[in-house]
Parts: sequence; structure tokens; C-alpha cells
Amino acid sequence: MGLIFSGVQPTGNLHLGNYLGAIRNWARLQGEFECIYCLVDLHAITVPQDPAELTRSTREAAAGLIASGIDPEGSVVFNQSQVPQHAELTWIFNCIARLGWLNRMTQFKEKAGKHRENATVGLYDYPILMAADILAYKATHVPVGEDQKQHLELSRDIAQAFNSMFEVDFFPLPEPQIFGGATRVMSLRDGSKKMSKSEPSDFSRINMTDEADAIAQKIRKAKTDPLPLPETVAEMEERPEARNLIGIYAALADEEPEATLTRFAGKGFGDFKSELADLAVSTFGPIGSEMKRLMDEPDEIDAVLRRGAERARAMAEPVVREAQDIVGFLRP
Ligand code: TYM
Repeated sequence: MGLIFSGVQPTGNLHLGNYLGAIRNWARLQGEFECIYCLVDLHAITVPQDPAELTRSTREAAAGLIASGIDPEGSVVFNQSQVPQHAELTWIFNCIARLGWLNRMTQFKEKAGKHRENATVGLYDYPILMAADILAYKATHVPVGEDQKQHLELSRDIAQAFNSMFEVDFFPLPEPQIFGGATRVMSLRDGSKKMSKSEPSDFSRINMTDEADAIAQKIRKAKTDPLPLPETVAEMEERPEARNLIGIYAALADEEPEATLTRFAGKGFGDFKSELADLAVSTFGPIGSEMKRLMDEPDEIDAVLRRGAERARAMAEPVVREAQDIVGFLRP
């Protein structure tokens, strides 16, 4: 049986993309696998964060996972900074990975933009910390959205490089798991951009905490083209906004996009959008109110995360210690 590890940045505004691309799948995998789900606050600070807001949004992200059906008694749920083994293993991996490997990372190029010289060293090193997250537990499966695929390939390269450098068969090569029809949810304002927490316009995304009115309004205003709904998947491929909304509908309804197209064939976007809004409200209404209820009990959230971190440390400690032995660090 495999071990699952995945993570989300606790930087506010968990959104529909995080939910469909990752969190909903995390909840569904719980019966089949042992699962570790991490709020990656060390990753979050690779770009500046307001300290009080980071604390608040770490609790909120924990509430989001629990409200989405992740059971913190069964799965291990914790925030990364509480388990020092992540940072310890990162250093070893820093001394294995090559600059050339990181220079290929498209997410760094996107995030650093034109101001590359001004990006933090942490932002550059981000994918190495991801490899340490996964391999500190020898996790074998990593459920993520499509945007993380390149980072996971790097994790495999690092595992392999460690094994061959020290002539051991120590780290497994973790497998990405990219499921479902909504592995890349796009912005509601621009079908060529990924839905993202950091996009300035709140109209670009549906947040898991949005109220029904806000969800309906954002979907009503979502960009579309002037044509009626496409009738075939082939026709949809050339219309990014239509494709995105149909993909979201199909994922929320747990059906194939073909089934959604058959249902709405020939209709205008007005009718479709109002049904899509109902579907989104019926998904996020209960999740959002449960998140708010949990946020009123911050001590309970903290207790869950404390317990999760204890369990995570107990799992990561022997693995990282053995990796240190392999490297040859003296433990007098
Ligand atoms: P983050 O917080 O950016 O995203 C968390 C998860 O949500 C998915 N996701 C999306 N899926 C579909 N459509 C979108 N628009 C969309 N936006 C985000 C991401 O693919 C991700 O699965 N670096 C990771 C966090 C991380 C991690 C790890 C993941 C840190 N360590 C180890 C796996 C294993 C990230 O992107 O988080």
C-alpha cells in the first residue's frame, strides 16, 4: 500500500481550483491510502507575507481541509514549520540538486517575472523543499493539479540522484496523481490564465468561503464568448472560456464534459450559468459555513494541528535520520 503526501499554501483564498484540482481528491483518497496533508507555511514565505495574516490563513486552510471532508483523526494534517525534518532534508537535497535543474522550472520564471534578481532565494529553492516534503515520509503518491507536474518530476530526479550518489535504494520515486476533469481550472476573467490565490481581481476566482450571492455574481460575470454553448468536445477545445466553465460544471457534477454538453446543447450561457451557480453554491455553501464555524474555535484547530505535527514528526524523524546516516553525518 502506498503513502500519500500533498500540500497547499496557507495564503488565504482557498479557491475552486485548489478544491477540484487537489483538496476534493485528497478527501476521496482517504479510504484507500494512508494520507498526509500539509499546510506549507515554509513555502508561503517565499514571497512576503503579513505575519498575523499568515497565522490566520493557516488556521483557515486547516478549516478548509476539514470542512471538505478530510478527517484529521485518520489523515495527518499539520503545518510544515512544526516539523523541522522538512527543512533539514531540504539542505541535503540542496547539495544534490543542480542549478541547471532549477533553472528549468517554469513556475519560478512565472512567479519571479521580470524581477528575477529581486526574487528570494527561497522562491528559487521552492521545488527542493517540495521534494523534501514528500521524501521525508518516503511518500509514493502525490495528488496535485497539473501545475505541479514539473515540480514532481524534479522530486523524482532528486530521489534518484540521492540513491545513485550514495549507492542505496533508499528513496522511492514518487508518482504524481493528477485526476479528474478539472486539473487546471482557469480564471473566470481570462480563459488563458490559471485560477490563482494571488490574482488581484477577486472576480477571477470562486473562494471556498464565498457566500451564495458572491458565487452567483462571479459566475454571472464570468467571461464567455458570444456564441451559444458548444455541442461537441472538439468545438469546445477552441473556446477557452466555454471550455473552462463546462469543465467546472462537469467536475462539480462528477460527470464527463460530454454529458454536460449533451444536457446544455444549443442553450445560451445565461441558463447554463445559473445552473452552474446553483451547483457551485450547493458545493461551497456547506463547506464555507463549516469553515466559518471552525474558525470560531481557533483553539480546536490549533489542537488538531499540534496533534498532526506530532504524528508527522514521528514519521519523518527516522527517515531523515537514516538519510543523514547515509550522508555520513556523525551522531556522537
Ligand atoms: P498551491 O497552494 O499553489 O496549490 C495547492 C494545490 O491546488 C492545485 N491548484 C489547482 N488545480 C487546478 N486548477 C487550478 N487553478 C489550481 N490552482 C492550484 C495545485 O496543483 C496544488 O495541488 N507547491 C504546492 C504545494 C506543495 C506540495 C508539496 C504539493 C508544497 N509541498 C509537496 C505536493 C507535494 C502548491 O502549488 O500549492
